[in-house]
Amino acid sequence: MAAPLSLREWIARLERLGELTRVDAEVDPDLEITEIADRTVKAGGPALLFEHPKGSEHALLINQFGTERRMCLALGVESLDEAAARIASLVELKPPQGARAKLGKLRELKSAAKNSQPRRVRRGACQEIVLRGDEIDLGLLPVQRCWPGDPAPFITLPAVITFDPRTGARNVGMYRMQVIDERTTFMHWQLQKDAAASWREMEGRLELAVAIGLDPTTTYAATAPLPRGLDELMLAGLLRGEPVELVKAKTVEIDVPAEAEIVLEGYVERGEVGIEGPFGDHTGFYSPAAPFPLFHLTAMTMRSDAIYTSIVVGKPPAEDAWLGKTSERLFLPAIRSAVPEIVDLDLPVAGAFHNCAIVSIRKDFPNQARKVMNAVWGLGMLSLTKAVVVVDEHVDPHDYEDVFFHVCANVDPKRDVMIAEGPLDQLDHSATLECFGGKIGIDATRKDATEGAREWPQEIEMIGAVRELVDRRWREYGIQL
Ligand SMILES: Cc1cc2nc3c(=O)[nH]c(=O)nc-3n(C[C@H](O)[C@H](O)[C@H](O)COP(=O)(O)O)c2cc1C
Repeated sequence: MAAPLSLREWIARLERLGELTRVDAEVDPDLEITEIADRTVKAGGPALLFEHPKGSEHALLINQFGTERRMCLALGVESLDEAAARIASLVELKPPQGARAKLGKLRELKSAAKNSQPRRVRRGACQEIVLRGDEIDLGLLPVQRCWPGDPAPFITLPAVITFDPRTGARNVGMYRMQVIDERTTFMHWQLQKDAAASWREMEGRLELAVAIGLDPTTTYAATAPLPRGLDELMLAGLLRGEPVELVKAKTVEIDVPAEAEIVLEGYVERGEVGIEGPFGDHTGFYSPAAPFPLFHLTAMTMRSDAIYTSIVVGKPPAEDAWLGKTSERLFLPAIRSAVPEIVDLDLPVAGAFHNCAIVSIRKDFPNQARKVMNAVWGLGMLSLTKAVVVVDEHVDPHDYEDVFFHVCANVDPKRDVMIAEGPLDQLDHSATLECFGGKIGIDATRKDATEGAREWPQEIEMIGAVRELVDRRWREYGIQL
C-alpha cells in the first residue's frame, strides 16, 4: 500500500477503511469543534470531516493523524519502524557486499534521487480559484478558535514554505498562524526554528507561501525536525516514493504543492512584529502572548470545493502525539549513528516531547550514561530536552513501569543525578528564563565500583530456556490471562 498523494486520496482511503466519520450537523469552529475533536482523539476515535462548519462553505478535516494505525496508513507502511528503515537504508554508511547487493543499492539510490526532488508541473488544482488584493478573505475558511483563552482563530496545520536568504535552501515548517484580519495573520515561528533564522538574517521582505490540506506525508514532513538546509519536501518524496508536485505561485517567487487544497501567498517584513497569542498549546498550558512577525497575504488560491485541515493541541494526549511519535521513530537511526551506544529512545507523549527522553544504551564503560545525556543535549531539536533518563539495553524505554522500576531501584540520587542547564523549549513555562533553564539527567543503569557503587546484586531474571519452554506449553496449562 503506497502513501496517498493528495488529501482527496487520503480521505477516500480513510473512508474505505472505516477510519473517517462525516459530520453533517452544523458545528461551530469557535470552541465546539475542539470539544468534539478532543473527546474523539482521547477515545482513539476516527478522523472527522465536518461538512458544515458554521459560517463557512468549506468542510473541515480533523483527527486525520490521531492513532498509530492512521499514521501508518498515512505513510503507507505497516509500522512506523518500517518507514524509519526505508530512510535509514538510504543513509547507511556500510558499503553493500557483492555485485547483487551493490546493484540493489544503486537502484535504491537512483529511485531515491528521483523521488526526493520535487517535480514542477504547469497546472495545479490548488489554483482553481485565485483571489488577490481585496478579494482575499481568510474569513471564508472555517478557522478554529481552539480554546477559551485564545484571542482569535488560529490556522493550526499549515505547511509554511520559505527560502534561506543566504543559501537559497527551501524550508517547510509547521508554525501556527493567528488570524488578525481578512488578509493578515501572525507567523509563530519560534526562536530556534529554521524559518525564524531566515527571517532574522534577511534584509527587507521574506516571501513565503503556506499550503493547507496536503497529502498526509507532506503535512507530516513539515513537522519533522530536519537540520537546517535539508528540504522537507525531499523527506516527503522519499517517504511517499513519489516526488511532490509543485506549481509556480501567483504572486511570489515560490513553487507550491500543486495538490494542496488551499495556498496563502505573501510576505513578512523584517522587524515588523505584533503581540501574538496567548494560545492553548501542546504543553497543556496557554503559551503567553509574545512578539511574532506579521504575515501579509498577497494571494489566496484554492480548489473550488477546498477542504480545510486543522488540528487541536492541548493537554496530551492530543492528535499531534502521533506526528511526534513518527519523528521519534524516523530519526532514531540518525540519532544512533551520532551516538552509537543508544539502543532505543522514547519521548513520552505526556512529556510533550521536549520535557522528557528515555534512552536505553549498550553500556561499555563507567559513567557512559553521562556522555549520552550530554550528547542528547547537543543533538538538533533534542537539545531542548529537559529530562533525560538513561537505562540499560535490556530495559524497554517504551515500558514506563519497567523504566520507573529501574529509576527507583538503581538510582542513588546523590551519585546518579546530573543537573545541567541549557536551551529549553520556548513554550516551557517552568523555566526560569525564556528558552533557557535547568536540565536533569538520571542515570538508572547498573553501576560498578568505579562509579562509586558497592557490590551490586544480580537483577532477577528467568533463564531464557525456561521462558521458551513455558511459551511452548502455555496452552497446555489452560490458564487464561
Ligand atoms: C501541530 C503542530 C503545530 C506546531 N506549531 C508550531 C508553532 O506554532 N511554532 C513553532 O515554532 N513550531 C511549531 N511546531 C513544531 C514545528 O513544526 C517543528 O519544530 C518543525 O520541525 C519546525 O520546522 P523547522 O525545523 O524547519 O523550523 C508545531 C508542530 C506541530 C505538530
